Amino acid sequence: MVKYPPMKEQINTLQTQALAEITSASDEATLEALRIHYLGKKGAVRAFFQEMAKLSAEEKSVAGQLVNALKQAVEEALESRKHQLKANKFTDLDQKEWIDVTAPGIQPPQGHLHPITQIQYEIETIFRSMGFQVFDGPQLEDDYHNFEALNIPADHPARDMQDTFWLTNGRLLRTHTSSIQIRAMQGQTPPLRGISPGRVFRYEATDASHENTFYQVEGLMVDKDISVAHLIYVMKVLLKEIFQREVKVRLRPGFFPFVEPGFELDINCLICGGEGCPVCKYEGWVELLPCGAIHPNVLKACDIDPSVYTGFAFGLGLNRLVMMRYGINDIRYFQSGNLQFLEQF
Ligand code: PHE
Repeated sequence: MVKYPPMKEQINTLQTQALAEITSASDEATLEALRIHYLGKKGAVRAFFQEMAKLSAEEKSVAGQLVNALKQAVEEALESRKHQLKANKFTDLDQKEWIDVTAPGIQPPQGHLHPITQIQYEIETIFRSMGFQVFDGPQLEDDYHNFEALNIPADHPARDMQDTFWLTNGRLLRTHTSSIQIRAMQGQTPPLRGISPGRVFRYEATDASHENTFYQVEGLMVDKDISVAHLIYVMKVLLKEIFQREVKVRLRPGFFPFVEPGFELDINCLICGGEGCPVCKYEGWVELLPCGAIHPNVLKACDIDPSVYTGFAFGLGLNRLVMMRYGINDIRYFQSGNLQFLEQF
């Protein structure tokens, strides 16, 4: 009979120490080192087994149970700490990915309308306030609405004024939004006033002042006794609103097949006030838009009797207007998609 189990005290001490170390191991590498230290071939637990060899058979069986229990306790402690560390890893991840859903968000960058669209909308508002309608129409046009009905027959030299992108089926990309106005006049009876904003196309070599795609707002008014005086008044209201000041205008004769008489409307140079500067080439005036009294042939093409009705028409280039407003010196910026340019507006 073994009075007091041999090695019991050493085993207890070792177990207390091992479990304390294992439960406080901070990572898996430390844990592995502890496993080797206690359970490895040259480890502390193995040493007890060797020690047992010196004992009697009876003592051996008692001590054997103790050492096995120690081994098992250490193994279990290692296993459970390993699990804990793994679970902690996820907790750490939670910590890193934790977000405060009540914190104010980051303002996402917000886009805005293109400067051409901005001025188009502005002009639409100004004309609506004067009772004009806003007409829309197709970009892909036929010869009739773009040329024929506008008093530009097939053999007319004025076709050269508007180099055209033709499609193989005889259609074309509209060269001006006058085509929309033909459609509008054909669909309505005077009195009539409206504008037609839109994108137009010309087969042009591009440079700082020429583009193959640009934007217009054309407009017209048809009624009994409409004269050039009405045209000048409407233009002056428009320019005053756009430039936020009184703008002087003058008319010079200009030829366009769809107006008679036709004019080039100049405005007093806004940079120098008419004194003369590089922008107006020291003339004091800047060419702004073509206009005129609608040609009787155009009215006839739209079933409007020119002996009863008269009208005026104008064609405003939006790109040029934006260029004048902001001092932009190259028309190619508008289609460039260059954000550095666009973000300024
Ligand atoms: N349709 C002409 C163009 O695009 C502009 C214009 C309109 C000229 C009305 C005179 C009168 O060139």
